[in-house]
Amino acid sequence: MKLALVGMPGGGKSTVGKQLARQIGVPFVDSDHEIEARIGGSIKQFFERHGEDAFRDLETEVIAELVTRPGDCVLATGGGAVLRDRNRDLLHSNATVLYLRSTPEDLFRRLKHDTTRPLLQVKDPLARLRELHHQRDPLYRRCAHYVLESARPSVHALVNMALMQLELAGLLDPTRVVATVGAEPV
Ligand code: S3P
Repeated sequence: MKLALVGMPGGGKSTVGKQLARQIGVPFVDSDHEIEARIGGSIKQFFERHGEDAFRDLETEVIAELVTRPGDCVLATGGGAVLRDRNRDLLHSNATVLYLRSTPEDLFRRLKHDTTRPLLQVKDPLARLRELHHQRDPLYRRCAHYVLESARPSVHALVNMALMQLELAGLLDPTRVVATVGAEPV
């Protein structure tokens, strides 16, 4: 089984993804890390030097490669991965896609001191998050098979919600869950 997590920056995709992968006993892959390994630098620098379009081209290449790679995994995607039709199709047809949904206010609380996300280095990051959420929420929903409200306070709760959803859908054998996790803030 391939599981992909989509959602806004700061919604917990990497943290939840890592724990989910550990519990199911499959590798965790993060498309942003794969991109950074490929470019040999940070996404922020790449945005500054080459612009968002060049980043999106690379993102599509990496997502196509990761979702068609043989073997199970949990894949965390970048927040803007759903912007392109091609990425949404690739994810939806090759993986079970979970949308970790948060409010812009929750995201702001988590990201207000962040300096790594190029799209949020603006005067009013909350307004930017509201704008991005408004634009992207329908796209995340279109891409996803399941929506998990991640306003919940802990990674533990989110991981359990995801596992329960997958078990209910018959996508996960409960005996395959290998570890338990403790409560941690997202
Ligand atoms: C982006 C989100 C980032 C990263 C890039 C663009 C976006 O990933 O892919 O900075 O468009 O929202 P995270 O969602 O992991 O922060």
